[in-house]
Amino acid sequence: MKLKSALLVLSAAFSLNAFAQAPIVIKFSHVVAIDTPKGQAAERFKQLAEKATNGRVKIELYPNSQLYKDKEELEALQLGAVQMLAPSLAKFGPLGVKEFEAFDLPYIFPSKTALYNVTEGEIGKSLMKKLESKGITGLAFWDNGFKVMSANKPLHTPADFKGLKLRIQSSKVLDAQMRALGANPQVLAFSEVYQALQTGVVDGTENPPSNMYTQKMHEVQKHVTVSNHGYLGYAVIVNKKFWDGLPADIRAALDKAMKDATTFEKAIAQRDNDLALEAIKKTGKTEIYTLSVKEQAEWRKALLPVQKDMESRIGKDLITAINKEAAK
Ligand code: LMR
Repeated sequence: MKLKSALLVLSAAFSLNAFAQAPIVIKFSHVVAIDTPKGQAAERFKQLAEKATNGRVKIELYPNSQLYKDKEELEALQLGAVQMLAPSLAKFGPLGVKEFEAFDLPYIFPSKTALYNVTEGEIGKSLMKKLESKGITGLAFWDNGFKVMSANKPLHTPADFKGLKLRIQSSKVLDAQMRALGANPQVLAFSEVYQALQTGVVDGTENPPSNMYTQKMHEVQKHVTVSNHGYLGYAVIVNKKFWDGLPADIRAALDKAMKDATTFEKAIAQRDNDLALEAIKKTGKTEIYTLSVKEQAEWRKALLPVQKDMESRIGKDLITAINKEAAK
């Protein structure tokens, strides 16, 4: 009898010990290639987080829409099927947080400094707070860059956009932007863009160069216009219930790892986009066109009214506050 109870105690101790050793798994899903600012930052966060928690946390990365594509990933996060995402700020409207579409407004940020004044200040904090009622905690803003436009015809003036079918992210502001140019916007998941361009489902699109290059869009787009008409960035988010349920020391270590990964990400974003544009140019497959001052004025004239048109959706006060921060 003694042997039996000793074995029972041993096996209980073993299973307890095994349980105590089981790492906390964080599934981090995203839709871009590893070799992009967001992809590299996710890798860096994994390294920092696993090191800082001595392996008590395991980050499982699922890049390039491997696990979930655009719309699905937010649903999966809210269900707790994944714990972390870094969606484009243009993808929070369908979640009911329309204010994030302020980042999509044409020409809202005259520079990266202006953008950081917003994301790192009170406005950024208040926007992240709006996620909590959706069961989401916002951890950081990550950067990508200013967008270029692409199509299989030159895009020099707004008139060149007339009738074009252009892929956009799921943002009403981007819908209004393309319509202001006389184009027909079409929402598609990021993972579907290359094929849609290749088969002619859409004629063109917009994105920072790092996304265009790593998704090989330049292979099916003969013309890119360096317009910098709008910005594309990210919110790194977690399932709130999961995050609040973590041991406090683990949460603190992950917060620090996220801060360091964010510093890294912002340091590489502009360089990666510059290198991507150079790489697209080098392929010789795509003509890269930079707008003249006169053409830039024509684009602004066509697109700036979108800020006013979107006041009722995003909030006049928020747009005014962002413009004020950006003007500092
Ligand atoms: C897009 O869908 O165009 C981008 O949001 C992809 C990304 O996450 O950078």
